[in-house]
Amino acid sequence: MNLELAGKSVVVTGGGSCIGRAIVLTYAEEGDSITIGDIGEAQAGKVADLARERGAVRVVGTDITQHDQGKALMDQADARHGGINVLLNNVGWERPMFFTQTTPELWDKIIRVNYLSVFNCTSAALEKMIPAERDSIVSISSDASRQGEPREAVYGGTRAAVNRFMKTNAPRSAPRQSRRSRS
Ligand SMILES: NC(=O)c1ccc[n+]([C@@H]2O[C@H](COP(=O)([O-])OP(=O)(O)OC[C@H]3O[C@@H](n4cnc5c(N)ncnc54)[C@H](O)[C@@H]3O)[C@@H](O)[C@H]2O)c1
Repeated sequence: MNLELAGKSVVVTGGGSCIGRAIVLTYAEEGDSITIGDIGEAQAGKVADLARERGAVRVVGTDITQHDQGKALMDQADARHGGINVLLNNVGWERPMFFTQTTPELWDKIIRVNYLSVFNCTSAALEKMIPAERDSIVSISSDASRQGEPREAVYGGTRAAVNRFMKTNAPRSAPRQSRRSRS
């Protein structure tokens, strides 16, 4: 597949497994320089070994629920690959169960992994991307953010919040007028 994205510096969070792995291998095929930020360093290393046959890949062991670690991940990608063109916020985690079965500790973990982590990585990446007028940020969400699923009440809420966060920050061609200011 040629997506005409060759030569980009791409950061993929959670690139060590499943969907993130497929994303890493696809960008590697394009000839991009990839930084994988993953808490599972050994598993991400295996993906990097596969991807390295196609492009430049580096693994940074990172817990992106921690603000300083999200920042360190972007600093390392920037230093190593001369900037960041694409951030893929891919990390996510859930444990499906009815809301009445969940605990405050579980709410906290789901909110931190699925929502707070997006702030941590996005804000750190924007620090690099805005001055350089560089490309794009993609956040993986879920169907659970739209119609909902009975055992994913907390997770679905965090993913809906990610949708709104991304839409709110997406560039618009012109500032919107409020109803009141329209004539
Ligand atoms: N798999 C699905 O069916 C499905 C459906 C809808 C949405 N999604 C979303 O797609 C994305 C990828 O899903 P997946 O199934 O590939 O996930 P996965 O669980 O297979 O992989 C997640 C990766 O993130 C890493 N990770 C977890 N917590 C981390 C942290 N705090 N810091 C850094 N890395 C961390 C893990 O080590 C793992 O490599 C997630 O955002 C998920 O919510 C998945």
